[in-house]
Amino acid sequence: MADDCWDRAAQSYFDFWVPRLIPYYEDLVQKAGPRPGERILVTTAGPGAELIALAQALKGKGTVVATDSSPAMIERAKEAAAAAELALPITFAVADARDTMGAKWDLVLSSFGLWQFEDRVDVLRAWSEALTVDGRVGILEWGPPDPTGPFELVDDSLRSIEPEVAEVTRLRELAAREPFAELLGEAGLRMVRHAVVRHRMDFGSAEGFFKALCAGCSYLQVCDQIGDDRTNRVADTFYARLTPPSPRTPLSFEPAASIAIAQAM
Ligand SMILES: C[S@@+](CC[C@H](N)C(=O)[O-])C[C@H]1O[C@@H](n2cnc3c(N)ncnc32)[C@H](O)[C@@H]1O
Repeated sequence: MADDCWDRAAQSYFDFWVPRLIPYYEDLVQKAGPRPGERILVTTAGPGAELIALAQALKGKGTVVATDSSPAMIERAKEAAAAAELALPITFAVADARDTMGAKWDLVLSSFGLWQFEDRVDVLRAWSEALTVDGRVGILEWGPPDPTGPFELVDDSLRSIEPEVAEVTRLRELAAREPFAELLGEAGLRMVRHAVVRHRMDFGSAEGFFKALCAGCSYLQVCDQIGDDRTNRVADTFYARLTPPSPRTPLSFEPAASIAIAQAM
């Protein structure tokens, strides 16, 4: 992944996606069950929207460090935390997801971060090794896939025109209970909880959805790679698959995300 990709995507990710993802963060925090007084590391925190639900659950007691490798994301997270007037001071740092800050944590959280790492087992192992005796890891990721969902339809359209470009949603299979447990097991983690959650997402038009998609880092790279003309062909192929087949077709769907809570074996 290009180093500055998330820096470039920070503003549009915040505008287009974060408001639609808030119920998913609330689910993650609810399933991870943070307790007042705990020490919590939030990795791949991006603009930090999951910190709002987390701070509420901690009721003003606890230590929270939020990290991300993108300086633009961390700046945005600081601003958002200040605007939300969180009941808990949070420390922010630009850091790689594998960096557990030389400390032990009761909870390591990551939302929509893990699939992007090729070496996800090593990343998980770093989190596992930084847990306290009863510590847990809480992960939120997209999947399992919805074959007729708009994310997958865009990927099908991409594949039909650009077969050599890897589809973005291919890793969603990993989110189902068994493959997720297996992945965690490879990193020395035992999955203690798994849940699939869905929340409704509305876009006024398919064109708006496609634009939002191309604003996130994963598709931003694909669109950069294939250029404007071919990106437009992918978009047209996607619109043609909708009912009615138009860029103006409104979209309403409930994409699946999975939450896994795990402890060190
Ligand atoms: C899809 S965003 C998720 C952000 C946030 N957790 C959320 O759910 O809104 C993925 C985040 O992972 C961060 N990221 C990418 N590579 C990273 C790395 N090697 N170490 C830490 N963070 C990384 C990006 O900067 C981006 O903020």
